[in-house]
Amino acid sequence: MKHNRNSVPERRWFLGVAIMAMVGAAVFITVMIITSDSSFICSTEHIYGEMPRAQARAQEDYNPTTIQIKAILHYATTRIVPQQSLAEIKISFDVLKSMGRPCNFLVFGLGHDSLMWASLNPGGTTLFLEEDPKWVQTVLKDAPSLRAHTVQYRTRLKNADQLLLSYRSEPACGPVRTRLRGNVECELALHNLPDQVYETEWDLVMIDAPKGYFPDAPGRMAAVFSAAVMARGRKGSGVTHVFLHDVDRRVEKTYAEEFLCRKYLVRGVGRLWHFEIPPSNDSDSSVRFC
Ligand SMILES: C[S@@+](CC[C@H](N)C(=O)[O-])C[C@H]1O[C@@H](n2cnc3c(N)ncnc32)[C@H](O)[C@@H]1O
Repeated sequence: MKHNRNSVPERRWFLGVAIMAMVGAAVFITVMIITSDSSFICSTEHIYGEMPRAQARAQEDYNPTTIQIKAILHYATTRIVPQQSLAEIKISFDVLKSMGRPCNFLVFGLGHDSLMWASLNPGGTTLFLEEDPKWVQTVLKDAPSLRAHTVQYRTRLKNADQLLLSYRSEPACGPVRTRLRGNVECELALHNLPDQVYETEWDLVMIDAPKGYFPDAPGRMAAVFSAAVMARGRKGSGVTHVFLHDVDRRVEKTYAEEFLCRKYLVRGVGRLWHFEIPPSNDSDSSVRFC
């Protein structure tokens, strides 16, 4: 006897195949979305979603433009802009551009400019050192892909003049073969930073923190001193670009002249000075930084 084309067993078989095909397609699409590049259709969800920091960082590493897109969206929709003027920002931007490669960029201070600095250095390492742990939390809540560490400063702005006089008689603060890591003897040395800071050769160092506008603030003395030590200790070729903001203030200016040196000052715009500091050579026996 001939079977009817729409017999019950045949319909069941067809339904089973159809269900399996649909499940297969759903699994395939899900896997494609999960494993796809972050520039896939869900990229804006990545930008604003509650993604764990490690995962967000990994994506930035593989896709530098993600952070640039985030920066465009952020700065296009905020009234709060970075404190540096366009002319000041352009100094470090031009250096980053001229390097022609992803850079190691160390920035003292987290602020409204942080996303900008990180996005101007796509594919590079931009690391922020911030004194205020609460401010770190606030900034990272909105921009979890930024790399930031909290730093404890031992200095106080009100002691800046005294420190400038006394550091010269402390051998651990000398200009030759000075170490930062574990250097508790020299008050100006940032001695307990994360290992990554000591183990990286920084191409650019931006000093726009810590706070230096009231007597009990940490002041920028240790940041300036430590940047000078890092630059002088550079092992690779080329100079270290050090940028110091707020040079209209006496302490910033005095410490810059003591440790970063007028002879290495290559540009000054507004309240920003740009130094190009060469590595010191092994035979150096100077007693002063400049
Ligand atoms: C001169 S500010 C750096 C400002 C940054 N360059 C900018 O454009 O936003 C130095 C320090 O002030 C503090 N700071 C800046 N903005 C802040 C804010 N909105 N709330 C709390 N602390 C802030 C942080 O400790 C920061 O490291």
